[in-house]
Amino acid sequence: MKNIYIIFFILFIFSCKPESTKETVKIDDKLEQNILRMAKSYFTPLEAIKIKNLSPDRKKMIELGKRLFYDKRLSENKTVNCASCHDMNKYGVDNLPVSPGDKNQFGTRNTPTVLNAFLQYAQFWDAHARTVEDQCVGPIFGNFEMDMPDTITLLSRLEKDAYYKKTFAEVFPKADTSISITTLKRAIGAFERTLVTPAPFDKYLKGDLQAISNKAKLGVKAFVDNGCIPCHSTSIVGGQMAQKFALYGYYWDYTNSEHIDKGRYRFTKDPGDKFVFKVPQLRNVVKTYPYFHDGSVSDLKEAIKIMGMAETNIQLKQEDVDNILEFFKTLTGHIPDYAFENK
Ligand code: HEC
Ligand code: HEC
Repeated sequence: MKNIYIIFFILFIFSCKPESTKETVKIDDKLEQNILRMAKSYFTPLEAIKIKNLSPDRKKMIELGKRLFYDKRLSENKTVNCASCHDMNKYGVDNLPVSPGDKNQFGTRNTPTVLNAFLQYAQFWDAHARTVEDQCVGPIFGNFEMDMPDTITLLSRLEKDAYYKKTFAEVFPKADTSISITTLKRAIGAFERTLVTPAPFDKYLKGDLQAISNKAKLGVKAFVDNGCIPCHSTSIVGGQMAQKFALYGYYWDYTNSEHIDKGRYRFTKDPGDKFVFKVPQLRNVVKTYPYFHDGSVSDLKEAIKIMGMAETNIQLKQEDVDNILEFFKTLTGHIPDYAFENK
């Protein structure tokens, strides 16, 4: 009997060992400081939105936006809501290459995450909407998504709901008509603007050297050394420009995509925009598989290798790929509790 206690005691001691002793690689002080300096010069920390500190009016607008985000009546047959494709339990995506819409129809582009999306310079894979407010009417009337036939059908559905009638009027007292596309956009946008996900990497950026592993730090270095920074930097590690995929070769040779998407060209008709796509953010990237605009690659290590070949013309070393993956894991953040449907 006594032995059992001793075994438990030993297990207890081991389980209490601090994170740092699990380090498999060592880095010296000079390298440690260099990497931190490098990280601080290319990335900025994310800060959670403190809903508590917002004005009561703003809180009400956010709550209204959340209701709309989870409301299936925004789709013609009332079968899908925003969260069907942008599921908070799956970090704002559905982990499918392409998502089924209101009539089980499929588009050709992968669902990007709604988390931190408002921090991008533009929305959609081809960057055709600037803000999350401008973006959100797209899916409501989009053939591949919620497929609402027209504005009147949508607004009259909302008018009939007592909560919406009352709350829209309270939140937008100055609007000519309180329930309109303009106010709907503002409410959904207000909710989306709270979806910020601080992660261990942010603690590290603020100087907590224990917040991430040495392998992850070497991953930051590999990310810089292999030329990823010009496109993937700032607080969300991307989302600030559009670039050609691929700069070296053709993307479908790397991804085996069956459908060839001309990217921004589809919308601008400028030949220079052929195969140009918005550079995605990489916050929560470990969770937001599959990857690329068509969800053609499901393995993140594969996606990292492809980026090396396609965008920087470098055949990445396996060790660099592994370390970059460790860095990416530190970008998996905390989703605010109230963003979930029943909280
Ligand atoms: C049927 C699935 C589906 C539904 C429903 C849906 N979306 Fe999306 N969402 C997508 C897809 C696919 C894209 C990318 C389309 C593209 O770039 O051409 C997207 C893009 C976005 C983006 C841009 C993100 C980025 O990084 O570019 C935001 C924000 C967004 N959706 C919010 C919403 C909101 C708000 C709703 C509800 C009003 C909604 N979505 C409903 C599938 C969906
Ligand atoms: C010249 C700009 C550029 C450079 C440099 C670059 N990327 Fe990208 N990255 C992109 C673009 C554009 C996409 C989106 C391509 C698409 O899906 O059409 C992308 C997509 C990704 C994705 C997939 C994300 C997702 O959610 O689908 C990962 C992961 C990624 N890049 C990592 C890297 C790494 C690692 C490096 C350095 C080896 C790198 N990138 C260098 C422009 C760049």
